[in-house]
Amino acid sequence: MSRDCGKRTSGMRRIARNNSMNILISEPIPTAGIALLKEKHDVTQADHVLSKQELIASIGSVDALICASTAVDAEVLVAAKKLKVISKLAVGYDNIDIEAAGKRNVTVTNAPGVLNQTVAEFAFAHILALARKVLLSDQYVRAGRFEQEPWTFDLMVGTEISGKTVGIIGFGSIGRSMVPMARGFGMQVLYTNRKGEIDDYASDPGVQYADKEMLLRESDIVVLIVPLTAETEHMITAAELSLMKQTALLVNMARGKVIKESDLVDALKAGIIAGAGLDVFEFEPKVSKELFSMPNTILTPHVGSATEEARAQLSIKAAQNAIAVLTGEACENIVNQQYLP
Ligand code: GLV
Repeated sequence: MSRDCGKRTSGMRRIARNNSMNILISEPIPTAGIALLKEKHDVTQADHVLSKQELIASIGSVDALICASTAVDAEVLVAAKKLKVISKLAVGYDNIDIEAAGKRNVTVTNAPGVLNQTVAEFAFAHILALARKVLLSDQYVRAGRFEQEPWTFDLMVGTEISGKTVGIIGFGSIGRSMVPMARGFGMQVLYTNRKGEIDDYASDPGVQYADKEMLLRESDIVVLIVPLTAETEHMITAAELSLMKQTALLVNMARGKVIKESDLVDALKAGIIAGAGLDVFEFEPKVSKELFSMPNTILTPHVGSATEEARAQLSIKAAQNAIAVLTGEACENIVNQQYLP
């Protein structure tokens, strides 16, 4: 694509600069970071998420790929003859084959830190909406039932979250951002973490380390915020769900494959747990259809990081990471160092 700089490729916008690197943005992203890239580099931006075939056709002379939902597997990497960096506009990078990239000397970076508040707030949006039946109440009013039916004391009765225990599975920067929010609501926090107990909270009476089993047994609300890895895939199956309180809510802000979705459907049907807030799905964008008709679920389309603030910062961070790798500067967001030569 860099060779045919003058040409317009269908669905792509090219901004050419002399003596610069070729950067491909393989899907529409917020403009803040694009401006940074354009200062010194040739930028080609797709106006839709490129399919694998489109990506393979476009990537031959690209030095840096900026992407979010675009998948990059070994086949794409074979076609990426000049590629030096894949800069992901997200925290999770499970759609990139980081090992294959590293072995071809392609650095992969992610963009942590900038969406902590946004995702933590969205976890609470799910928690509150479930606990107080916000969506059901909205549907009730829109259906005209508030006007047509008598108001009764048992209408849309939920539960307070104050005084309850939220169990956070995956206590990275997003999980930790939930702590002040939980405190504000008067909640106790349990957490479990790959790295074990965290010193910062050792003497905090409101935040306690627990192993996964204890956390599942004792939490009123369980929030998943782990990366998807071989260890976390299907971390929640029927066995784990059966440890949870019957009144408990499960919120997934992580990746769909962390939960075995068919087991969750069964558990919700059988009343093993009380409800689930899901921003991600095991086979997304496909969603288990049985979840649609369940009044005790909230289903959102993987939009945990969807705020103006977080998205602008993600695009800046992704641009900075790509530029840092291209220019040989230090970059603290490299995720495949272990596979690089
Ligand atoms: C969103 O899902 C992210 O990984 O940043």
